[in-house]
Amino acid sequence: MEKSGLEALLKEMSLTEKIEQLIQLHGNFFGGAELLTGPEAEFNLAEGTPLRIGSVLGERGAEKLHKLQDEIMANQPHHIPAVFMTDVIHGYETAFPVPIAIGSSFNPKLAERLAEAAAKEASAAGIHVTFSPMVDAAKDSRWGRCMESTGEDPWLNGQFAAAMVRGFQGEDYGEKGRMASCVKHFAAYGAVQSGRDYNVTEISERTLLEDYLPPYKAAVDAGVSMVMTAFNTINRIPCTINEHLLRDILRKEWGFDGVVITDYGAINEVVIHGSSENKKDAAEKAIKAGCDIDMVTDCYSSYLEQSVREGTVSESLVDEAVMRLLELKNNLGLFENPYKDGSPEDEEKYCFCEEHRELSRKAQEECTVLLKNNGILPLSVKQKIAVIGALADDKEIIGTWALFADKLKTVTLKDALERLYPEAEIEYVLSDSDTEKAALAAENADAVIIALGENQNYTGESRSRADISLFPEQKILFDRVYSVNKNVVTILFGGRPLAVPNEAERSAALLEAWLPGSCGCYAVADILFGKVNPSGKLSMSMPYCTGQLPLSYITFSTGRPKPDGAAEFIPFISNYMDAPNVPLYPFGYGLSYCETEYSAVWLDKDKMTSDDKITAFVRVKNKGYMPLKEAVQLYITDEKASVVRPTRQLKGLRKISLEVGEEKTVSFEITAEMLKFYDINMNYTAENGKFIVRIGGSSLTENKAEFWLEN
Ligand code: BGC
Repeated sequence: MEKSGLEALLKEMSLTEKIEQLIQLHGNFFGGAELLTGPEAEFNLAEGTPLRIGSVLGERGAEKLHKLQDEIMANQPHHIPAVFMTDVIHGYETAFPVPIAIGSSFNPKLAERLAEAAAKEASAAGIHVTFSPMVDAAKDSRWGRCMESTGEDPWLNGQFAAAMVRGFQGEDYGEKGRMASCVKHFAAYGAVQSGRDYNVTEISERTLLEDYLPPYKAAVDAGVSMVMTAFNTINRIPCTINEHLLRDILRKEWGFDGVVITDYGAINEVVIHGSSENKKDAAEKAIKAGCDIDMVTDCYSSYLEQSVREGTVSESLVDEAVMRLLELKNNLGLFENPYKDGSPEDEEKYCFCEEHRELSRKAQEECTVLLKNNGILPLSVKQKIAVIGALADDKEIIGTWALFADKLKTVTLKDALERLYPEAEIEYVLSDSDTEKAALAAENADAVIIALGENQNYTGESRSRADISLFPEQKILFDRVYSVNKNVVTILFGGRPLAVPNEAERSAALLEAWLPGSCGCYAVADILFGKVNPSGKLSMSMPYCTGQLPLSYITFSTGRPKPDGAAEFIPFISNYMDAPNVPLYPFGYGLSYCETEYSAVWLDKDKMTSDDKITAFVRVKNKGYMPLKEAVQLYITDEKASVVRPTRQLKGLRKISLEVGEEKTVSFEITAEMLKFYDINMNYTAENGKFIVRIGGSSLTENKAEFWLEN
């Protein structure tokens, strides 16, 4: 439809009909009101009331949505189609590794491919919009939702955000197999205090702008269709009614003209936060701040019309919100075809198809992070092996947001080992409490694989933990196994970096497998036996202990920094008496089975002006015995500035492949844009002076060169 058609439609709509468009309800509203809980229960609709809403949450299935669409359209005076939105976060029926794992691939192209595959499945099932990517920078693994983020770094999250938006939406999300994407949670939800979910955030404006907002901006620049608000406060104002955030920054500064949706029940929560008198007040504040869709509360539906009639809310605000939603529907092509790609045949064809299962396996090859290896890995099928721990045969390792994946189809580590390496002599002890049986099996084995960590029920929304070390039962199991056999390969499952210093120290090898999705354990098995060379790098630092949190490689020099390499506690210096300052394994860190040799960094010149650029080079060589993939990382340090600057920041990444003996030259362009920050006067600018550029295989690299910005 032409824009003029949408305008004519809007003109014909009554105020009631317009407000109805801004309401989103859960699919179970249509399945029988007795199922309703939470804010939706407050709608108090008499049975049989025709439902008039603009969008539906959480429903799927081509046939079902076809019927639902017919019903909703028949109920509307202008027969406007509904948009079907849901969380397709890391795959649809085929679960891919969780986002924190995808972040650890350090490969945004892979994320794009996964989003594309997820969109193909979900759109065939009749879904139009996904609430992904989630780009909240996560520096605190107490927060269970770090699983949903690609990690701690704003720049890297921005790369992944843009890639995922491209993957879901393609060039035109109205095309077959594509869907609209909604970035969330705006903003800085990852900074919730104490890592406790739904808590407030307390960060400065500079920190917000520099360390938290860039990935949302990257999604907007990539053309994301929607933005979801966050549950937390910013500057003590809930994000859902935060005009500075939603109007000044998002709409005016960034030029975002898509739809803003609240998070689940968030307008209601504004009242509970205590920053609105009641639901009517909260609804007024939310529409004024720029929230177009009210997800599952009755705030807009019960009060907005009254506010417009009383003159406290201008009808033009409602019109703007409705127009944005009509445009989304139009871009999806729903006025021409209200079912879009929903097709039972395509659903059957694409969902959990062989190609996507293979993709789930391939993805995990790049997401698994080898953190330690004394040479025990890869294992040989000729060795006698004991596999210990409940997680080695747990199907709940796909992640809580794999809403539509059938967990019974999950390939466990045991399944993968049995199917791929039937010739291996493996004894399984699959209960964490069976310590004596485990010890016996370990005693008889050449090598022990022990699966530790958390299954999906311990991570995700609302699953915050105050102590992120291993569960006591698992510590006991590890100790007992280690007491009889030192050849222990520890595999960590879970959605957060856990604190495992003692187990890491005693393990002969340590692998972070995260929550690997439907078929990811095949890749873990292939890594264990050396068929695949691991190439993941941590996208979130792994702490020594909970007390170090929040933790990031992005640190700032204090006035009393601890000297590099000093291990002991030093009084009157910024350090802990009982823990190091640095993580156990840092951001960007991960090993492979091959030695990767980096040449010294060189630059094409060592001075630049603001409209100039410098090219940095490094040669990278595979000195090992099998092909490898390496995430070559570029970090920049601004040594002196008008405000304290991070000790280093990731600003470039290339994931390269190297055959045995192969050497490649990798280059990065450095522009003044990459050197910008908020100066002492909050101007976004690059200041003259010396910069250090480091290039290497982790955030620890000291392979560096210097250059000057001189204007
Ligand atoms: C979560 C969002 C999600 C929404 C809809 C909320 O509880 O915070 O991330 O998109 O539910 O399912």
